[in-house]
Amino acid sequence: GVGAVVLGGGGFGVYFAAAKRDTVGEIAFDNALPIPDLAESESGASGTRVFTLGLQAGETRFKGGPATRTWGVNGTYLGPTIRVRRGEQVEFAVHNGLDQATSLHWHGMHLPAAMDGGPHQLVPAGGTWRPRWTVDQPAATLWYHPHVHGATGDHMYRGLTGLFVVDDDVAVRLPSEYGVDDVPMIVQDRAFDGDNQFEQPVPLAGSLGVIGDEILVNGTIGPYFDVTTRLVRLRLLNGSNARLYHFGFSDDRRFSLVATDGGLLAEPWETDRLYLSPGERAEVVVAFEPGERVELRSYPSDHGGTLGRLDGFDDRLDICQFRAANALSGDAEVPGVLGAAPHLAGEPIAETRSFALASDQINGRSMAMDRIDFGVREGTVEVWEVVNDNGYLHNFHVHDVQFQVLTVDGEPPEPPLRGWKDTVLLVQGKRYRLAMRFRDHTDPNTPYMYHCHLLQHEDEGMMGQFVVLGDGEQVGAVPRKHHS
Ligand code: C2O
Ligand code: CU
Repeated sequence: GVGAVVLGGGGFGVYFAAAKRDTVGEIAFDNALPIPDLAESESGASGTRVFTLGLQAGETRFKGGPATRTWGVNGTYLGPTIRVRRGEQVEFAVHNGLDQATSLHWHGMHLPAAMDGGPHQLVPAGGTWRPRWTVDQPAATLWYHPHVHGATGDHMYRGLTGLFVVDDDVAVRLPSEYGVDDVPMIVQDRAFDGDNQFEQPVPLAGSLGVIGDEILVNGTIGPYFDVTTRLVRLRLLNGSNARLYHFGFSDDRRFSLVATDGGLLAEPWETDRLYLSPGERAEVVVAFEPGERVELRSYPSDHGGTLGRLDGFDDRLDICQFRAANALSGDAEVPGVLGAAPHLAGEPIAETRSFALASDQINGRSMAMDRIDFGVREGTVEVWEVVNDNGYLHNFHVHDVQFQVLTVDGEPPEPPLRGWKDTVLLVQGKRYRLAMRFRDHTDPNTPYMYHCHLLQHEDEGMMGQFVVLGDGEQVGAVPRKHHS
């Protein structure tokens, strides 16, 4: 077990586990990577797919010694992968078997605000929530997690997280056998105390939140994955509260980024390193040789301090070992053409808004449940200019839409920011121009959120609310019962 220590002075602190692992190769990689089950559905009226998700408390054994008290969805830690097709009607029965209210938010999903699972859609202890909507967006790796204002970090840290994969009819020859060559990887850091219990995120003003020294993939420390195909697609989710990852392989091999948050890139981007901040996803395709072993790691940042306070103390971390069989099957080439590139650049801009993130606030204001910050017009394209205005790591996430990064400080974005995104890492001081179209689901009284996805920042108020307005509609008011 490890203790915890608070670093830093002047009221600014970084909370992380003290006994940091600083050598690579210490990890035994003796646990097979578990693959989350695919959620089963029943068929409801007019073909609706009905999923039942039970939020529950339990115990999980992550290592030798006592089990850890955890939360999970249909299990004790994490939840099943939900997999749906574009065009399908889905409905969920979310049963809250916990002893307190929580919510389940479908991160990256385009859907009515009342179904979004944000802080206004709390499910009371013992209650059941039944959101339903029609899936209408391109194939992508989305995910779900709680979204209780002030407690999102705590509830997610306990284990309420799962993947939500959307498929569509766009035919691209990518590895696609779930758990075989299409592999979900929910990457999280955790700090354990001397009794193997999770160190809880400590509300320390101005800090990043909890940074753990143990890396879990799909809830397992030190996992290995048996590779049986030449190409493997990894669906990476940074499911950590605050930790930034800088992924790469132990032999610096190159791999292809094929999809970002909202779906396929226009063409693959070859790289040997990839940043992923909390909440972001990436689909990468990696080529393997028969019989080899290679590790996925996170490497120290190469941004030279411009990412803010996380920069400089992120160690090289072992994440997962890949063990290739002596004979590998399947394709050897990644297709050169993937999806449709975002196309909002030439569109008329109905509104430009600015967002400055600093001191747990956006534009100098803290989140208030009963304040709708602004309304956007359905059918229009807006440009949001976002800047990280202080010395800490931040990113920016918008509900309901996928956006296109038009420019970063006036320059065209790097390849990993050229696809659809719903969460973007904000390098300090740089101005990100994000274009997004709001469509469907008007509701003047039920807001969507935008916020930093470092969960302690979000919980401390670095979040705001907007509504999507129909023709002639005005910003309404959040119903009183939802204010608390
Ligand atoms: Cu991943 Cu507002 O959420
Ligand atoms: Cu932040």
